[in-house]
Amino acid sequence: MATIEVKNDGASVELPDGSLLAELDGKCSILFACKTASCASCKVKVVEGMENLEAPNELEEAGLATFATDPTERLMCVCKIKGGKIAVEY
Ligand code: FES
Repeated sequence: MATIEVKNDGASVELPDGSLLAELDGKCSILFACKTASCASCKVKVVEGMENLEAPNELEEAGLATFATDPTERLMCVCKIKGGKIAVEY
């Protein structure tokens, strides 16, 4: 199991290894709208555990090229967890 801490919420959520972070929808305060890396509502800054996330896929790379201003930012809706602990804030 992976543990995802959303700093803004002051709480953590557990998800199975290999899950998409979109599975946090409804379990934290992050808003998920399009779920296709095209709106940036789910953009977060990874403050811990970037190594515990898969590299951005083609869809996320395109979204990050449009919306990200910092290499620590990811789009949660299309981002996959490897495992371990990840902390994010928005
Ligand atoms: S929900 Fe729109 S980019 Fe993630």
